[in-house]
Amino acid sequence: MKHLLSIKDLSQTQLLDLLVLAKDIKTHPENYRKALDGKSVVMLFEKPSLRTRVSFDIGINKLGGHCLYLDQQNGALGKREPIADFAGNISCWADAIVARTFLHSTIECLAEHGSVPVINALSDLYHPCQGLADFLTLSEQFDDLSQVKLAYVGDGNNVTHSLMYGAAILGISLTVMCPLGQFPDGQVVFEAQALAKQHGGELILTSNIDDIVNHDAIYTDTWISMGDNVDLAEIEAKFKPYQVNQAMMEKAGAQYFMHCLPAYRGVEASGEVVDGEGSLIFQQAENRMHAQNAVLVTLLA
Ligand code: CP
Ligand code: NVA
Repeated sequence: MKHLLSIKDLSQTQLLDLLVLAKDIKTHPENYRKALDGKSVVMLFEKPSLRTRVSFDIGINKLGGHCLYLDQQNGALGKREPIADFAGNISCWADAIVARTFLHSTIECLAEHGSVPVINALSDLYHPCQGLADFLTLSEQFDDLSQVKLAYVGDGNNVTHSLMYGAAILGISLTVMCPLGQFPDGQVVFEAQALAKQHGGELILTSNIDDIVNHDAIYTDTWISMGDNVDLAEIEAKFKPYQVNQAMMEKAGAQYFMHCLPAYRGVEASGEVVDGEGSLIFQQAENRMHAQNAVLVTLLA
């Protein structure tokens, strides 16, 4: 494992090993206090962030490393100098790059032209760190991940893509339920379906809300992702039947609600569900740090 650009690049063993390591780091942080001793990580963000920025910064600190946050205040990436030169320069000083970008191709360019590991902290296509934290969270609720029936309801986006790959590799049954026209990327569907077949999982795509029956957990995300240029009224009308609320949770028989956050209560999910007993949102948020630290230790230590 040289980079973490997408969960699809991980074998089942690599993915399971990351989850085991994340649990160990979470349970025994004292054993990892010097894991990144003398290492520096540059964090480059083209978009806003709370969870990703803070969990990487504090997580790197807990591993004994140093991190430097670069926003776009000193000029947009690729404007003052080519992204390839940027990657080459950062590689002279830093031991890894964590990048949140609009285009996934920007992250690929950093990985291609730099000589240090690159970690995708969200792009238009994927959010692998989120996916890892989500599977860590599920593994804390269920003894056997391969028996879990997960539903993702809402917009087919970067978070959905990472969930699809991860679920497929882990053999988890995943139903992706989106309004017509809002389905995940076709290539990702194709690849995730092949991975699901290989690992004994099941990936169902549907627009039919009645298909929600018989799921253990329902996951949703914002209907409008960062960088989406859409009409709010149009989106809300289209997605309204897909709001995750108590009625949907009951129809599914779902015990757990998941969301990568930030959540818009009363929009993609009702406040009752977001703040309800079965909500795993803060466990997911906490696990961002442990999952990312497992990635950092694997790539750098
Ligand atoms: N879930 C997530 O990535 O949150 P941020 O956008 O705040 O980092
Ligand atoms: N799909 C969302 C995730 C935010 C963490 C976005 O890209 O804005």
